[in-house]
Amino acid sequence: ALVLGDPAPHLPRALAQTGYEVTRWRRHLTRGQLCSSWPPPGPFGEVWVRMPRSALEAAMLLHAAAARVGDGARIHLYGATREGIRSAARHFPDGTEAPVTLVTKRRCRVLAAALHAPPPRPDGLESWEIRTPVDWGTGARHWIFYPGVFACGRLDPATALLIECLPALPAGARLLDFGAGTGIIAAAALERGAPGAEAVLLERDAIALVAASRNLPGATLVLGRSVAALPGPFDLIVSNPPIHAGSAQSLHTVEDLVREAPGVLAPGGRLLLVAQRRLPIPRILERTFPLTNTIADRESFRVWEAGGRRR
Ligand SMILES: C[S@@+](CC[C@H](N)C(=O)[O-])C[C@H]1O[C@@H](n2cnc3c(N)ncnc32)[C@H](O)[C@@H]1O
Repeated sequence: ALVLGDPAPHLPRALAQTGYEVTRWRRHLTRGQLCSSWPPPGPFGEVWVRMPRSALEAAMLLHAAAARVGDGARIHLYGATREGIRSAARHFPDGTEAPVTLVTKRRCRVLAAALHAPPPRPDGLESWEIRTPVDWGTGARHWIFYPGVFACGRLDPATALLIECLPALPAGARLLDFGAGTGIIAAAALERGAPGAEAVLLERDAIALVAASRNLPGATLVLGRSVAALPGPFDLIVSNPPIHAGSAQSLHTVEDLVREAPGVLAPGGRLLLVAQRRLPIPRILERTFPLTNTIADRESFRVWEAGGRRR
């Protein structure tokens, strides 16, 4: 069996206990687990898909699932009511029978459908490319997204505010975009800077990195979760950092980034962060950096700048 997109071990473990040989695929790098931008080729006897956040990502994963089973094999989609599982039957691709609910329990359910014809789209991430105009203030350009990446198809307002605060990088300067997504902040910084500035994009979503590689062909892309292992030094670190782990708010990634940033910042280097103003970002920055400043404040977002000697 193939399990798609589930970071938790429970289902793979239960399947293995009932005699299945289980292969797991995830797009996000998590501690000690591999990830990649597309599931391994089949065929598999059956596929289990964890309900993702967006409808388009659900359709993409179900398509990939259908391309990995033979005729008559079953595809399952499982998730909670708050994740939209009750109306998720519509995401099954043409070529599958009408999905049935196998089990409903504690506001969660499992849908299943058998395959009777090949799915309509070619198998591969390329067929899910979304190319749409994005304008961060210097004119619209075509930007590439894939289902499930952050702010798919649009410019996030926090990202836009950070972009307004970007300094002009001098020639030879090195920039790190932490949690780079499709690369919008790095692209805006390179556009504003002198020729010869260099950008490194760190991201844990392997699919977002494919988008970034298409959007910024010259940048250095790193699939990773921490700045600590990166080859610094960087003159500027920028980030619209994640403030959630799953659906719960979590500042752990911001805390790790701020703690590790001095280790890869050049002398005189700075960290620019954008986040919702209600979050205790100043407190986190002040633990590590002697100099912190609010440099923009609009609607519900703020941009903070931090730097100074290492502690
Ligand atoms: C708020 S989004 C910002 C994306 C992009 N910079 C933008 O502004 O459109 C945060 C990004 O951080 C990534 N991310 C989350 N945890 C990470 C980690 N530990 N290391 C690297 N990237 C991470 C997420 O996958 C997501 O793409």
